Amino acid sequence: MKGIILAGGTGSRLNPITQSISKQLLPVYNKPMIYYPLSLLMLAGIKDILIISSEEHLPLYKKLFNDGEYLGLNINYQKQKYPNGIAEALIIGKKFINNDDVSLILGDNIFFGSKVKETLINSIKITKEKQVASLFGKFVNNPLSYGVAKFNHNHKIIKIIEKPKSFISNIALTGLYCFPKDINSKVKLIKPSKRNELEITDINNLYIRENRINFEIFDRGQVWFDMGTPDNLVDASLFVQSIEKRQNQMIGCLEEIAFKNKFISRKDFIKLINNFKNNFYKSYLENLIK
Ligand code: G1P
Repeated sequence: MKGIILAGGTGSRLNPITQSISKQLLPVYNKPMIYYPLSLLMLAGIKDILIISSEEHLPLYKKLFNDGEYLGLNINYQKQKYPNGIAEALIIGKKFINNDDVSLILGDNIFFGSKVKETLINSIKITKEKQVASLFGKFVNNPLSYGVAKFNHNHKIIKIIEKPKSFISNIALTGLYCFPKDINSKVKLIKPSKRNELEITDINNLYIRENRINFEIFDRGQVWFDMGTPDNLVDASLFVQSIEKRQNQMIGCLEEIAFKNKFISRKDFIKLINNFKNNFYKSYLENLIK
């Protein structure tokens, strides 16, 4: 299973904050935003990662992660010339995917809570074994801002409607998707939408029509934020802050996950810690080996 993080877009809803910086590098409490989606892929055991961003912003991600070896990862980079939609990530990533299954996560999505990791691991398995797409829904109070799931009387998903004009259901599609090997042939079938984007919703509807869907709905113990607006950005930061302060356990600490998942050895972990400047982050990592 490969992993793609889409860190593109203009971040227009966050302007002027995003006038000169990539949205997915903005701080969410004490870490860059992209740490959170990357941490979820790592928790699911995915080591081959492609980060897609604009030509202007890619060097910033390379500076942050390099080739990812220090985390036991293999991080690749590719540019998205224009923000042509989420589904374009799968076209840009074609060579990288190389006929494998792929998990795609949006660089501004954060997931947290009991069983998020287990749900993703299990869905990856289902996608692999049954060659179906795995999609993840979550109850929200503002469904009109998202792709929304429509259900039949048997509570089976029958369609996703992107930014519906009127109420369909409260179940929004989160920015996390697992696709089977034929994803390459699916992206060729879709056309730009009215907002002139290649919509991930159109891809997902193709799998729904073929009855090749594993639809998981995160429950109330599982938290999802997208961080595309000023309010969501602050809400996500406060959420991370309150959990971390209370529990003294970090959310989205990449070095910790790399160490605990045995992507890197104890020796390499200690080396890595020594490269950090003295601050809260270094102290936290030091405590992990005490
Ligand atoms: C995108 C998807 C939408 C999904 C959302 C999750 O919306 O198109 O289906 O619910 O991400 O964050 P966008 O960020 O393009 O408005």
